[in-house]
Amino acid sequence: MAHRVGVIGGDGIGPEVVAEGLKVIAASGVHLDTTEYDLGGARYLRDGTVLDDATVEEWRHLDALYLGAVGTPDVPPGIIERGLLLKMRFELDLYINLRPFIAPGHDFVVIRENTEGAYAGEGGFLRRGTAEEIATQGSVNTRHGTERAVRYAFDLAVARRQHVTLVHKTNVLTFSGDLWYRTFQLVAAEYPEVETAYNHVDAACIYFVEDPARYDVIVTDNLFGDILTDLGGAVSGGIGLAPTANLHPGRVSMFEPVHGSAPDIVGTGRANPVAAVLSGAMMLDHLGEGEAAERIRKACDRPEPLTGTTSEIGDAIAARLEAG
Ligand code: IPM
Ligand code: MN
Repeated sequence: MAHRVGVIGGDGIGPEVVAEGLKVIAASGVHLDTTEYDLGGARYLRDGTVLDDATVEEWRHLDALYLGAVGTPDVPPGIIERGLLLKMRFELDLYINLRPFIAPGHDFVVIRENTEGAYAGEGGFLRRGTAEEIATQGSVNTRHGTERAVRYAFDLAVARRQHVTLVHKTNVLTFSGDLWYRTFQLVAAEYPEVETAYNHVDAACIYFVEDPARYDVIVTDNLFGDILTDLGGAVSGGIGLAPTANLHPGRVSMFEPVHGSAPDIVGTGRANPVAAVLSGAMMLDHLGEGEAAERIRKACDRPEPLTGTTSEIGDAIAARLEAG
């Protein structure tokens, strides 16, 4: 049975890099039954649609979603990000944001909790626009949400180098940090073969730059994970190489590059499609096409550098696959 995949090119360089990802998947021999969804800032500006509930319901019956990037400077911040990307993550309960980083000398994975924390949208304004205004933005942390993220990290570590680091800020965030830390200890007790470590997020920023080899699997909350994974991209060959899986194991899941829509380089051919291609490989893993996924990763990983325009890089990866 063909894999049913919804494709959302999105904004900026999103459609450019997704096209290369689909090209590479086709070259790998995996057939996808794709449906395109015209969503993102451009669509919103045209007819006001961000993401309606009927579309989300349709997606529940798919196997995967493949997304380029969303967000455009002509739309106020938050409308597309919250209304489309975060709505996808929350409504489809894609509770794991998995971001692998592979560079010479280090190879680690960040498991970012993907449905809670400061992203939950708790908070509001009082007296907005006045001299006395107040804004609050809460962080929502549930035992259920932290435990499933932590458990996923430990399960992953068992299949890797048996090491998990919790990253948080327990010395200041004494409520959410305490919940995360206790949950981490409880789950760790079930995995005696897995070694554990804890880093405050500020210290983790130093280690990412100076000693990333200390990490195998990192688990952290939504906002720390967002920030740390941009840094992870920067220290692992650049954000143009970093893929993401937004997972609900066993259900429709969403695959996208870590990078954004980069409106400054749209149409120039300068967007690196490798992050989108590697996100496509993670999608193939999810679809049970692990062998093709591995061939795509190897094709991206050959010693000869991938250079040229967006579509030239896509062509080169596809050609490597076809050459075997
Ligand atoms: C990411 C992005 C998103 C996030 C934005 C676009 C909402 O930065 O996937 O890392 O903050 O999660
Ligand atoms: Mn981010």
